[in-house]
Amino acid sequence: MLRRAAAVDYLTLVNAERPWRPDERLRLVPVNRQDKGVMLQSEAACQLNRLLQQLTGSAEAGWQQIAAVSGWRSRQEQRRIWWQSLAENGREFTEQYVARPGCSEHQTGLAIDLGLRLPEIDFIRPYFPYDGLAGRFRQLAAEYGFVERYPQGKEAVCGIAHEPWHFRYVGRLHALIMQKRGLTLEEYLQ
Ligand code: DAL
Ligand code: ZN
Repeated sequence: MLRRAAAVDYLTLVNAERPWRPDERLRLVPVNRQDKGVMLQSEAACQLNRLLQQLTGSAEAGWQQIAAVSGWRSRQEQRRIWWQSLAENGREFTEQYVARPGCSEHQTGLAIDLGLRLPEIDFIRPYFPYDGLAGRFRQLAAEYGFVERYPQGKEAVCGIAHEPWHFRYVGRLHALIMQKRGLTLEEYLQ
């Protein structure tokens, strides 16, 4: 029997205590033309492109300066990243910056890692600072439904280190409230 592709609830919480066991197929689309294989749920991809359009005049121009480093990941891909990071970076680093397989919100197709499009891009920790273009991106993010998911000072709440590059789509209304009140998704859902 064919199952219809469905959008996952934009407020779905995925963390070490809330593994994600999808029973729905996701409606995933490529986020841009440059970064082959980087996909998001269609609404999140659409809003991200609208944000870049406002930021730089056109989404195309935005993607020339900002790279989509990692979007949707299968559980298998998260497992591969986890084990590769363990081998290359050690346990302490990996536990800070890589969610365990099954516990990454990248699996929902609602999370994206962004980095300035530099000659070298770190896959686990892309460079996405608080000033310049990346800073202006952040100022617009909530208007388009995105929040910086792992802010500084919330490491204990999220169980993940500060990740300036990781954005999560939650929808405009929720994002604006979370930003105004300085709440992580964990706190907002309480
Ligand atoms: N870097 C984030 C926490 C992930 O692996 O899902
Ligand atoms: Zn991420």
